[in-house]
Amino acid sequence: MIRVISPATSANLGPGFDVLAVALERPEDTMEFCEIDEGIEIEVKGYSVPASPEKNIAGIVANKMLGDFKIERGVKISINKGIRPMSGLGSSAASSTGTVIGISELFGIPMNRDKLLEYSLIGEEATSGSFHADNISACLLGGLTIALSEPLKAFRFDVASSIDYVAVLPDIEVNTREARKILPKKITLRKYSSNLARACLLVRALEEGDFKKLNIAYEDNLITPLRSKLVPFYYELKREALSTGAEAFFISGSGPATLSLLNREKVDARDLAEHLRSFYLNKGIEAEIYWGKIGEGARVT
Ligand code: HSE
Repeated sequence: MIRVISPATSANLGPGFDVLAVALERPEDTMEFCEIDEGIEIEVKGYSVPASPEKNIAGIVANKMLGDFKIERGVKISINKGIRPMSGLGSSAASSTGTVIGISELFGIPMNRDKLLEYSLIGEEATSGSFHADNISACLLGGLTIALSEPLKAFRFDVASSIDYVAVLPDIEVNTREARKILPKKITLRKYSSNLARACLLVRALEEGDFKKLNIAYEDNLITPLRSKLVPFYYELKREALSTGAEAFFISGSGPATLSLLNREKVDARDLAEHLRSFYLNKGIEAEIYWGKIGEGARVT
C-alpha cells in the first residue's frame, strides 16, 4: 500500500495569473493506493466527491496511467478529502497530483518532473476545462512555484521563513470553469506590463521576505477586479485583513477563498485568521480558516 499526502495550494497570487502558486501547510488530502486484480475502485471520506471512477479525478487520472503504461492490474484508491472542492485551495490539483504520485510509486512507473506534471494536468483539465498548471506545480514541488504552460515546466523557489499565511474559506462554492468564463479575452499592453512587473517583484519579495516590496507587488489589475464579485464582501475583507496586519491579500485561485500573507514577527497568524472568520460571521457567513507556513509538496508517507 502506498500513502500519499497531497497539500492544498493557492494559485495566482494576484498578478501571477495561471503562473504563480504556493503550497500550504494545511489543509491536505490523504490518499491510499492498493493493488487489486483489475479495475479501479474508489472510496471517499471527508469532503464529498464522486466515488464513481469515471467521475472522480483520481479515477480519471488512474485510468489514463494504467492504460498508457500498460499496467495489467487494478487499483483501489481510498481518499480522505481534507480540501473542500470548489474552494480555491487547489482541491482538484491535490487529487490529481496525489494520484500521479501514488500510481507511479505503486506500480514502479519511472516519471521525471515533466511527466509528473503532464499527468497531473489531466485531472486539472477534466475539472476546469483548461490547461492551467499553477496549482499542480505547487502541489508537486511545494514552496513557491512558477509554472510554464508551453512547454509544460515548473520551477520551485523557497519562501522566506518569516512569512506565514492565512486562508479564509467562506461557505460558498466557486466553479473554476465558470470563474474563467468572466475573464477578459484581450488585455492592453499597459495592463500586461504593469502586472508582469508586479509578478516579478512578488517572487523576489517572497524569497527575500521583503515586506516593502510585497506591499506593492501583490495588487492585480487584470483578474481580481472581475473575480472580486465571486468572493463575498471581498473589498471589505481585504481592508480588514490589511488593517489587521496582512502584508498582502489575494483571491486564492478562482475563489471563494482568500489568502493573506503576513510577517510572523509582527502578527500572529491564528489571531488574524480568527479575526477574519469573525468578520464573516458578523455578515452571517460561516467560514473555515487555515493558517501556517508555506508548505511542502505532495509526498509518500
Ligand atoms: N489559475 C487558475 C484560475 C487557478 O485562476 O483560474 C484555479 O484555481
